[in-house]
Amino acid sequence: MADTPARVGGRLTGTVTLVTGGAQGIGRGVAAAFRDAGSTVVVADLDEARAADLPGVDRVRMDVRDPASVASATEQVVARHGGLDTLVASAGVYPNTPVLEMDPAEWDEVFAVNTRGVMLAARAFAGAPGASGAERRIIAISSGAGRSARVGAAHYCASKAALDMLVKVLALELAPTTVNAVAPGLIEVPATAALAPDYVATLVAGQPVHRMGTPAEVARACLFLADPDSSFITGSVLDVDGGFLAGTPLPPS
Ligand SMILES: NC(=O)c1ccc[n+]([C@@H]2O[C@H](COP(=O)([O-])OP(=O)(O)OC[C@H]3O[C@@H](n4cnc5c(N)ncnc54)[C@H](O)[C@@H]3O)[C@@H](O)[C@H]2O)c1
Repeated sequence: MADTPARVGGRLTGTVTLVTGGAQGIGRGVAAAFRDAGSTVVVADLDEARAADLPGVDRVRMDVRDPASVASATEQVVARHGGLDTLVASAGVYPNTPVLEMDPAEWDEVFAVNTRGVMLAARAFAGAPGASGAERRIIAISSGAGRSARVGAAHYCASKAALDMLVKVLALELAPTTVNAVAPGLIEVPATAALAPDYVATLVAGQPVHRMGTPAEVARACLFLADPDSSFITGSVLDVDGGFLAGTPLPPS
């Protein structure tokens, strides 16, 4: 197999990676990991200033709900760095409201960020040139909630189930760019620090690995999918969830 620029030095040296939602949480962990793997990383976020203390990454303001904002931010990145090789779409929201109490606008907002926002970012990415000549990659941060129902999360669960299917369609439409999803379980980020202790304890007790994951562990899966040698993996959803979706570890029957 011919060497690509990404094979020199760090696995991703010479590539350019855009991380939506990269100012905080999982996206921030992904941005740091891709930077450490040698990629030039641009954090794209509603509040990109929050990544000012993340050394060695560029930043651009992007609202993934707004096609004009997505297009303009992508153009800025291409002008600064010559193109884009990898998109990690991590921007997402997860409010909690039972269906009977939900304002329909909240439903629309969740889909606008979690599903339509990924479509818009992927479309802008696909229309931009590559930077390094390496095969291009799109990785969407989905959630186990796309396949496991949660009270209060109808919009979130449905938005992530739709995202998993969007990823598969994009894998067909954008080949040879690979398009995959990483589906985290419960991950330690500022937002999940505020969860009720009972909720967290019950959830982790019901999965084979009895702890929350970290953004760095989600980033490892993203690095694997972004690797130049991962070109035969597309249209897949990779669970990084401590086995949550594998089933409940019951005692022997
Ligand atoms: N934390 C978890 O346990 C967990 C589990 C499964 C899936 N996820 C998914 O991981 C992704 C990241 O979640 P997180 O926990 O890191 O959340 P977070 O709230 O810590 O970070 C989300 C980031 O997205 C940005 N963002 C929000 N709306 C945006 C918009 N319209 N345009 C651009 N940026 C926007 C925020 O400013 C923030 O920086 C989400 O897609 C979420 O659904 C998280």
